Amino acid sequence: MSIQKDSISPQACGVVKVYAAISGVVILLMMLFGLIMRMTQGQILPIGPEVFYQLMTAHGIGMVAIAGLGGSAVMWHFLGKYVNLREGFAWANLAFFLAGVVFVLGGIFLGGFAAAWTFLYPLPANSMGMWGKHAAAAYMGGVLLVGVGMLLFYLESARAIIQRYGSFAKALGWNFLRNGQDAPPATIIAGTVVTIINIIAILIGAVILVMMLINLYVPEISIHPLLAKNLIFLFGHVFINSTIYMAVIAVYEILPGYTGRPWKVYKTFVWAWSATCLMVLAVYPHHMLMDYAQPVWMHVMGQIISYTSSLPVLALTMTATLGRIYRSNIKWDLTAALLVLSIFGWSAGVIPAVIDGTIVVNQVMHNTMWVPGHFHLYLLLGCVPMILGFINWLSSQGNAAGFGGLDKTMLWTFALSAFAYALMFLISGQASIPRRWAVHLPEWLWYSQLASLFAAGVVLSAMIIIVRALGGIVKPARLS
Ligand code: HEM
Repeated sequence: MSIQKDSISPQACGVVKVYAAISGVVILLMMLFGLIMRMTQGQILPIGPEVFYQLMTAHGIGMVAIAGLGGSAVMWHFLGKYVNLREGFAWANLAFFLAGVVFVLGGIFLGGFAAAWTFLYPLPANSMGMWGKHAAAAYMGGVLLVGVGMLLFYLESARAIIQRYGSFAKALGWNFLRNGQDAPPATIIAGTVVTIINIIAILIGAVILVMMLINLYVPEISIHPLLAKNLIFLFGHVFINSTIYMAVIAVYEILPGYTGRPWKVYKTFVWAWSATCLMVLAVYPHHMLMDYAQPVWMHVMGQIISYTSSLPVLALTMTATLGRIYRSNIKWDLTAALLVLSIFGWSAGVIPAVIDGTIVVNQVMHNTMWVPGHFHLYLLLGCVPMILGFINWLSSQGNAAGFGGLDKTMLWTFALSAFAYALMFLISGQASIPRRWAVHLPEWLWYSQLASLFAAGVVLSAMIIIVRALGGIVKPARLS
């Protein structure tokens, strides 16, 4: 089957391939860390709590960062079709990213930093002897470096979008809402939303990281803990949300090549993305429903916006995906199947989040495994298949893409084991098993042991999908 070649921007190809290759390898490595953690909770592996929390910190920040890099690969690649991006910024982002990773890993595995990826104030500075302040500084400085790189990436995207469309308003499609003409492509609308929200989120993240770095060495300059938590969660929640909003561009751009039906932009699509642009910035308080000192209006906002935030874009993307597949004579291959799977995972993963965003439920469920259940469903079956679909598409572009027995077996193994794995988190949450506990009670062990089996299925199938796709990517470019 031939795949649209016009959707490839040659100048972006080198850097995009490097992003894609790094994303594939790191996703796999972080999955292994996850498997080790789950096996430790099931007492299959004799790993102590210090190492467990180091792995948990590395897995959390590693997965969030690599989902960001993988999503950036998708966004950069397709944005380059419509606007003039300067490749040097993508390389600069990568250089900051890699430098940041060295600091983060040094802080964790050499310095012993293990305060979780959320680095909640004042924990990094209060390790009770578990790590020194230089380790905490290395971790937070590393996250700051990754953020600086990403900021450059989004500032370049913003410049290129404004140069081509004149303003963010036009790129968001607001002119089209008024006059019904010149709708921007779906990629431009999604890319503009992510650019706006992530520039804001990263700047806020940088503010709190710098404040915490100062506090680390000058403890007299203290921070209001509730303010710190708000800033950290705004930054972290928007950033992780935006990974899927970047990666979904793969669905908008690649799937039409399989169905023969272009991804047309309607006014509802423009409304949905504009609404998401505002709501995604205001939804994070659903992580703070147990913070009694938080103003009540923020709790109320957190609950209401949890219900509405992701629904418009998700509902439209889901129905449009189904509509484009229906009677389209789509020729399935691994790429198409992964992309369609990702829409299922994204949709299914939102349901436990909305349940947890309800205040009465949250008071019981929030510190249980229910929460990792929600975001593993959403990210492992939503964001990751989008990125893997993109990597696979990059590797097979220009070629007839078959759907052989191995592809089908790996796809189903991945889909079923990832779903079962996430379900085990949800069932564990329903049984009130707390999250982030290295050592589990004897009656909880079977949950972790069964989950480890499913996790092994995820790691194995993902490894085969990624290794085969990377084999295609590292071959010399076959672009016409
Ligand atoms: C084979 C796949 C995976 C396995 C086995 C796995 C395993 C785990 C485990 C055991 C935890 C700790 C749960 C707890 O006790 O609270 C965890 C947390 C987490 N995982 Fe995964 N995971 C996988 C994939 C992913 C993916 C694809 C992402 C994101 C793209 C992700 C992001 C996270 C994050 C952000 C945390 C929270 C860490 C924290 O609480 O600080 N994981 N994972």
